[in-house]
Amino acid sequence: MTREKRYITTPIYYVNDKPHIGHVYTTTLCDVYARWMRFAGREVFFLTGTDEHAAKVVDAAAERGLSPQDWADQNAKVFQEVFGLLKLTNDDFIRTSEARHTERVTRYVAELLDSGDVYLGEYEGWYDAGQEEYIPENRAKELDFTSPFNGKPLVRKKEENFFFRLSKYAEPLLDLLERGESFRVEPVSRRNEIINRIKDGLNDVPISRTGSTDWGIMVPGNEEHTIYVWIDALFNYLSTVDDEGRRHFWPADVHVTAKDILWFHAVIWPAMLLALQNRPGYEWAKLPKLLYFHSFWIAEGRKMSKSLGNFIDLDTINRYLDTYGLDALRYYLVTQGPLGATDADFASDHFHNVYHTDLVNTVGNCASRVSAMINKYFDGVIPELSTADRSRVIADHNWPEWTAQAVQAAGDSTEAFELDDAIAQGIALIRKVDGFINTTEPFKIAKDESKRDELAVILYQCAETVRIASLLLGPVLPIKMAELWDAYGQTIDPAKGDLTDLAAWGGLQPGTPIRKVALFPRVENPVEIITSDDQSAPNQPQEQP
Ligand code: MSP
Repeated sequence: MTREKRYITTPIYYVNDKPHIGHVYTTTLCDVYARWMRFAGREVFFLTGTDEHAAKVVDAAAERGLSPQDWADQNAKVFQEVFGLLKLTNDDFIRTSEARHTERVTRYVAELLDSGDVYLGEYEGWYDAGQEEYIPENRAKELDFTSPFNGKPLVRKKEENFFFRLSKYAEPLLDLLERGESFRVEPVSRRNEIINRIKDGLNDVPISRTGSTDWGIMVPGNEEHTIYVWIDALFNYLSTVDDEGRRHFWPADVHVTAKDILWFHAVIWPAMLLALQNRPGYEWAKLPKLLYFHSFWIAEGRKMSKSLGNFIDLDTINRYLDTYGLDALRYYLVTQGPLGATDADFASDHFHNVYHTDLVNTVGNCASRVSAMINKYFDGVIPELSTADRSRVIADHNWPEWTAQAVQAAGDSTEAFELDDAIAQGIALIRKVDGFINTTEPFKIAKDESKRDELAVILYQCAETVRIASLLLGPVLPIKMAELWDAYGQTIDPAKGDLTDLAAWGGLQPGTPIRKVALFPRVENPVEIITSDDQSAPNQPQEQP
């Protein structure tokens, strides 16, 4: 039987930057999705990487006396190392300076030149050097002719360029967006925003630049023009899977980015694919199924910035990891982050409270309470029970039904990239176990020898529900849930893809040894984001939007 596949991507990050909370956030979201899908038995391809051909890479390298390639090599390595330390499970890491990418992009552009979708013309307009982007006249006016990216004035620029015939695809794109079936944009506010922009009219866009440097991919058959970095970068999603062994992953199931790059992903990219898929041999270049645009993290109530000292860079991330651990950081990012259409605040007190409320006092406490009672009343072994007894409804608690619903809902939410809702299902089950313990009071029942059977049923149901909840929380809390599985006598390997079987009620076998477990230690003081020595932030050539 062939397994269903899932292909998920992050943006490829500018190689000039050092990884910060924004990069870690998007990549962690994708990681949670990828882990869930692997656990659920899908064949997953999870891609991240670095975007390397920006002109500012040449400048930054020159300032350091390095070649652009050496500078890119150094910085890409930092991203790879950090993502490794954060146990992010990307299946590949694409770098746009790699031959496997540049060769394919050359081919794609050659196809579009052949079809006339790319043609030579002249362009004059307002150019934002910070984002390497031309800004349309009306938008430039709105921005008072300054870059929203770095605050510097926009420059008037005129050049001979290769253009992409974007205007030709306005109607087909609008149609696809409005139908919202095979090509979806979420959240809905982003979809509306892009529909309105397309309705304003789409002009052809320049997709090449000339200049003294040869850092970039040349327009095929032309000695002077380099393919504009954004076009080069967008193709990474396709180029990485464009070979025999991987082509079945296309189309991407989800492209995840923040709202800053909505235009490129929701307009330029699908239009390029529409153009490419008309070419013989490229019929497979369908549109991605879902584009998900999250919002931004701000920090301590304000836009992140180095001068305010609230920029969450690697140093800060490391202090959080040292104090609360990796799973706690993942949990906070995914459940409290800007997954929807509004920005979210990374604040030290808030982090501290969420950690204690959800992880220490809920997940950790419940797992430990249940394991302690099984140790105290049943010598640390799940008692013998018939299958009927395992499912017996006590105090109106229909666990088989509730757990099945939670598993279904968590799967559906993950599929829709509503990851916070998926996680909430696991947490809600744990809270219900706490409520069940408070209602049934097993510690009182334990005093009555004639009620051993009832005690066994109650504790079985508690442990079984904790086990099922832990499966739902595994993708976001991989380290701690593995500890829990170990303590609860479970050999679980999410890579085996048997989530559905494991999550069926009654899987916990009588006779299973249960060790006492303490998952999340209390933390005394919040980790401060703004510290007095924060001025020494590492090399960070630009602030994030
Ligand atoms: N290189 C382009 C993307 C090309 S994709 C074909 C780029 N790179 S970037 O390094 O600037 O990364 C932007 C992405 O980083 C955002 O879309 C988002 O995923 C993440 N974030 C950067 N800052 C962020 C926040 N403050 N909050 C949340 N995510 C943020 O654009």
